[in-house]
Amino acid sequence: MKQSVKMIVGNWKMNGLTADLGEARALTESLSDAPASCRVALCPAATLVAQMAWALKGQGVEIGGQDCHAEPKGAFTGSISAAMLVDAGARLVILGHSERRQGLGETDSLVAAKFETAVAAGLEPIVCVGETLTQRETGQAVPLVTAQVLGSLPDAAASHAFAVAYEPVWAIGTGLTPTVAQIAEVHEAIRSALVQRLGPAGTRVPILYGGSVTPANAGEILQVAEVGGALVGGASLKAASFLAIVRAAEPARVAADAQG
Ligand code: 13P
Repeated sequence: MKQSVKMIVGNWKMNGLTADLGEARALTESLSDAPASCRVALCPAATLVAQMAWALKGQGVEIGGQDCHAEPKGAFTGSISAAMLVDAGARLVILGHSERRQGLGETDSLVAAKFETAVAAGLEPIVCVGETLTQRETGQAVPLVTAQVLGSLPDAAASHAFAVAYEPVWAIGTGLTPTVAQIAEVHEAIRSALVQRLGPAGTRVPILYGGSVTPANAGEILQVAEVGGALVGGASLKAASFLAIVRAAEPARVAADAQG
């Protein structure tokens, strides 16, 4: 999987007002001078999805939501449906982020239900998995993440485009990152789980790494076997730092760095 086009996705989380669309525009201005040779996406808060999709239309940056409801529509005050995201211009949706699993009690089976609703509406899910520090320290990282992958994908996942993002909870927003060997171990376990769950289709699913990715560490992380891209939080909020991560993911750069 190492040779395939990388996918760099920014997750703005609960950040960003209309004024911050300037950062997204600055990103596309730089990319129009030198187009990215990897997939680039931004996932703003729901309030900005339509405006960002409109502002960036046709400029090579895909737009995603950060969550959607498991039901296609109905009396769910405050929630956003998959069809609403598509209507607003989104192509992708992050599902099962640890900030939702931990803070809002989202379970693997709820994530799998959201996956089915999202793909039915035409969205490409990015399914997040990852262990807590305690789970890592007690040797549970690989079994836990494997179980999350197996449980968070519906049976029909094999016939849909989607990505998995490995985001160790302890690495999110902390400046801490796993070692390259730890990332490789978990990504290989995720690949095995995907093949176990989906058969040959499991070999083609991009597996992103997320958690304190910065311009300084992106090159090294993106070299790791089975790392198909990055899901970037804080460093995606500013065009300059996100662009540097996008550039680190471009094939020529990845190949050159691999040769040392
Ligand atoms: P940070 O890059 O800010 O650590 O966030 C990672 C993340 O949670 C992306 O979904």
